[in-house]
Amino acid sequence: MRALVFDRYGGPDVVRITDVERPTPEANEILVRVHASAVNTGDWRIRAAAFPGILAIPGRLMFGIFRPRNPRLGSEYSGVVEEVGASVASFVEGDRVFGMSVSGGASAEYLAVPEESAVANMPGSLDFEGAAGMPFGAICALFFLDECARLQPEQRVLIIGASGGVGAFAVQIAKALGAHVTAVAGSDSQNLVLDLGADEAVDYRTTDIATLGQQFDVVFDTFGAISPRTSRDLLVEGGLFLPLNIGLREIGAALFDRFRKRKIRLAVNPDRKEDMIRLARMIQDGVLRPVVDSVYALEDAARAHARVESRHKKGAVVMRIAHAADGAK
Ligand SMILES: NC(=O)c1ccc[n+]([C@@H]2O[C@H](COP(=O)([O-])OP(=O)(O)OC[C@H]3O[C@@H](n4cnc5c(N)ncnc54)[C@H](OP(=O)(O)O)[C@@H]3O)[C@@H](O)[C@H]2O)c1
Repeated sequence: MRALVFDRYGGPDVVRITDVERPTPEANEILVRVHASAVNTGDWRIRAAAFPGILAIPGRLMFGIFRPRNPRLGSEYSGVVEEVGASVASFVEGDRVFGMSVSGGASAEYLAVPEESAVANMPGSLDFEGAAGMPFGAICALFFLDECARLQPEQRVLIIGASGGVGAFAVQIAKALGAHVTAVAGSDSQNLVLDLGADEAVDYRTTDIATLGQQFDVVFDTFGAISPRTSRDLLVEGGLFLPLNIGLREIGAALFDRFRKRKIRLAVNPDRKEDMIRLARMIQDGVLRPVVDSVYALEDAARAHARVESRHKKGAVVMRIAHAADGAK
């Protein structure tokens, strides 16, 4: 089967398609015939070894110091269950599923994943492209806004990077939790964030976020646009800063947290099955919808990676996976 791989860290052109053996599912695994796989900022960071700040050290230790330990790319996928392992109880052949593969390899014709990993049945309203572009950003937004911030109705949240892979879902999830949402994005994305439900949109190109003159219960910075120092001016007393990019200044701020009236929380979200199931329910209930920036063929993976690296995608960049058996070369 065809799979997307990389042999060295570098720009988008280090990715290539190669033939690898089709996986055979273990007893606890399902084999998914992948129809679509997104390229997210996590995939870009792994491909380029572009780990932010202090995460460069654990990043290289985890993914390979000089070259990638695992050449197989791709984390988000959607597709159809082709085969189930002997002990699998919750999926049957033919189920349409979507999920996150923590061990990579999702940008391929087939993927074997444990039944208990972050995988769920796809809501009927979704197509494969939309579904593949949801898990990374939506699971992250759900974890930070609901589990870390415990966002409550009527609370005020500032979401920076509100049109991106995480932000587009953060806006929808914050609204679903009943919060008042101020969304920061570029000029081209103002209509999108309002359409996703934001109460107010701020253009970071024309407005200095640091001097907004408003205060929030939660500031969720998905881009790395503001420092912990700036976040304190934007937060009410007891408010919480959630930065997704963790560097020395964020770690330093967290060390002094207990002495401050405004808090910071540093975390990396887990990818859990329960989150995928909750996500599917929210989609079914109509409170969450996909946001797809662009769709590429797997053969155009380098262009898809370049688009992600631009940091200006709106929602998700998705690759359609054609199958050799269906005539794809
Ligand atoms: N800690 C964790 O567990 C975790 C989990 C997931 C992701 N992450 C990290 O979270 C980050 C966000 O990922 P993502 O997929 O959402 O990224 P993305 O899709 O590239 O997000 C881009 C967003 O940032 C905005 N933006 C671009 N330049 C900006 C600037 N100079 N100032 C303010 N905003 C700007 C864009 O707005 P316009 O395009 O409208 O200009 C867009 O809204 C990544 O660094 C990723 O590695 C961390």
